[in-house]
Amino acid sequence: MEAHEKGFFSEENSVEVVTSRNANAKSERLKEVMEVVTRKLHEAVKEIEPTQDEWMQAIQFLTRTGHLCNDWRQEFILLSDVIGVSMLVDAINNRKPAGASESTVLGPFHVADAPQLPMGANICLDQKGEDMVISGRILDTSGKPVAGAVLDVWQANDEGFYDVQQKGMQPDFNLRGVFRTGADGRYWFRAVKPKCYPIPDDGTVGRLLRDLGRDPYRPAHLHFIIKADGFETLVTHIFDPDDPHIDSDAVFGVKESLLAEFKRVDDPARSKELGFDGWFWEVEYDFVLAGPSRLAR
Ligand code: BEZ
Ligand code: FE
Repeated sequence: MEAHEKGFFSEENSVEVVTSRNANAKSERLKEVMEVVTRKLHEAVKEIEPTQDEWMQAIQFLTRTGHLCNDWRQEFILLSDVIGVSMLVDAINNRKPAGASESTVLGPFHVADAPQLPMGANICLDQKGEDMVISGRILDTSGKPVAGAVLDVWQANDEGFYDVQQKGMQPDFNLRGVFRTGADGRYWFRAVKPKCYPIPDDGTVGRLLRDLGRDPYRPAHLHFIIKADGFETLVTHIFDPDDPHIDSDAVFGVKESLLAEFKRVDDPARSKELGFDGWFWEVEYDFVLAGPSRLAR
């Protein structure tokens, strides 16, 4: 019998001692996951060689992170976001065929049951911000329009806050809406230009970002969940490429294909048509859905 089989622990055989103890795991997947996690974690500890004090600091950091989690705040997801793990899990689970729109993180500010609105509706309910019209098509990968696609849209306001962060200050469901495409696959609605905003940074994750010399900002974006029968659901954003934080998104959500063009339009006739007072922003962006449903791997 080798030392690790007897359970005698040493720095050299630490991984084998621990993983061989899991031989009777109830699930093969759990055993595999714990084998990899143990191996990688022990490797990190061997490379870092933390002092007892540093290890205790790490434990306390995770403890404080857990204490910040409740029904409306999930500091562990935020931690996974700022170390790129949320985006990596998203990428692995959303490998798309050529030409399909790319996904990005869902984020914590989606609200179920936003109002269903007719095309062209203005989702800005408090008239605050710079007017914007956004339009495009929902297509399949062969370029055909997708009829009956449902777009669930949400965005932060002109000050960088979602309605749920400013209850009583913004109208409920401000800057949210659900739209359904007709036979032409087209969508359009009115809104205001979104602004960049910091992710919640008053907890352990904010402190970590500050200690790492990083800023907590996400560049201005609009969120979309697009669903259509027979297609993979697309969870994504479009971003303003001119945002000062476009190259330093705190949660690594930016992909080149998700950069839209925000054009400033000064055309009194069109403003009038759209019910705007003066110049406005115009964004055109087509989404391409993967599917009909296929195996991701
Ligand atoms: C968001 O875009 O709403 C978001 C995403 C990840 C963390 C915090 C906010
Ligand atoms: Fe967001």
